[in-house]
Amino acid sequence: MKAWIYERYGSPDEVLEYREVAMPEVSEDRVLIDVRAVSVNPLDWHLLTGTPRFARLSFGLRSPKRNVPGADVAGVVEAVGENVTRFEVGDEVFGETIGSFAEFVTASERSLASKPDNISFEEAAAAPVAGLTALQGLRDWGSLREGQKVLINGASGGVGTFAVQIARALGAGEVTGVCSTRNVEMASQLGADRVIDYTSEDFTRIGDRYDLVFDGPGNRSFGDLRRILAPGAVHVLIGGPKGGWIQPLPMLMKMRMLSMFADFDSANDTARANAEDLETLGGWLNSGEIRSVIDRNYKLDEIPDALAYQGEFHARAKLVVTV
Ligand SMILES: NC(=O)c1ccc[n+]([C@@H]2O[C@H](COP(=O)([O-])OP(=O)(O)OC[C@H]3O[C@@H](n4cnc5c(N)ncnc54)[C@H](OP(=O)(O)O)[C@@H]3O)[C@@H](O)[C@H]2O)c1
Repeated sequence: MKAWIYERYGSPDEVLEYREVAMPEVSEDRVLIDVRAVSVNPLDWHLLTGTPRFARLSFGLRSPKRNVPGADVAGVVEAVGENVTRFEVGDEVFGETIGSFAEFVTASERSLASKPDNISFEEAAAAPVAGLTALQGLRDWGSLREGQKVLINGASGGVGTFAVQIARALGAGEVTGVCSTRNVEMASQLGADRVIDYTSEDFTRIGDRYDLVFDGPGNRSFGDLRRILAPGAVHVLIGGPKGGWIQPLPMLMKMRMLSMFADFDSANDTARANAEDLETLGGWLNSGEIRSVIDRNYKLDEIPDALAYQGEFHARAKLVVTV
């Protein structure tokens, strides 16, 4: 089979090679997937470029520990390990794994769910990382309750487009999205009650306060955020400024420390794949409660282009790749 491989850190066009590799072996609790579509996430770009540099402590100090990029996957089960109980050969699945930018990949059955019949492999592949981050960020880290006022900063990104819709699905009373001019209409179509164009209006100076601020760009100061967080509110920081050796650690640490002296909480975490949450996303995708928004659709041999575009951090919703 063929897969994209990188053995050193660098830009997508410098370090990625499309090579013939051995088929992965299926261990006891894993499923072999014939990959039909994958999607690209900022993490794929960070892992490939080895940035921020402090992250190499976990990515691999001198060279990457992972050699095939890609996490999101949708495809057809080709083989199952002997302990697998939830899937059979021929099932259509979607979920998360390591190294999905390939023709075949294995995944733990706990990180997969059945693909809804009424959506494409591309729409299913768009959902795992971004949808799980939105779901776990709003529900678990932000403790979203029905009727609350929610602001999504970065409402047009891969995660933000799911967050607008999932905030609605979880019963938020009012959802405000923040994005640039070209994405205002899309955020509104996804269900935002109000959309603030950050190029012409500063959402921290309008005078509104929110019970939950879900923050992708993480580009505002503690003082700015303090103005818009209602007493008892939660600021959920999922990303942060890019670049340098340690970004976005300073912002994460500052929010954690300063919020101890403020009347709001600060939360940040990393989304983790689990069958139950993937099934929740699958149910919503099936019913039409949420949908995957696709900015660009690439072919497998165009992975370097997809990763380069992802690295600009201005993708509109999701980038998917048909395999
Ligand atoms: N914690 C986790 O588990 C987790 C999981 C996934 C992602 N993340 C992180 O979360 C962040 C968002 O991820 P993503 O997949 O949504 O990234 P993305 O798709 O690259 O987000 C791009 C979007 O960000 C918007 N944006 C850029 N600058 C902005 C600004 N100043 N104000 C508001 N919006 C702005 C862009 O909109 P415009 O083009 O309109 O500016 C674009 O639509 C990233 O930092 C990512 O690394 C964390």
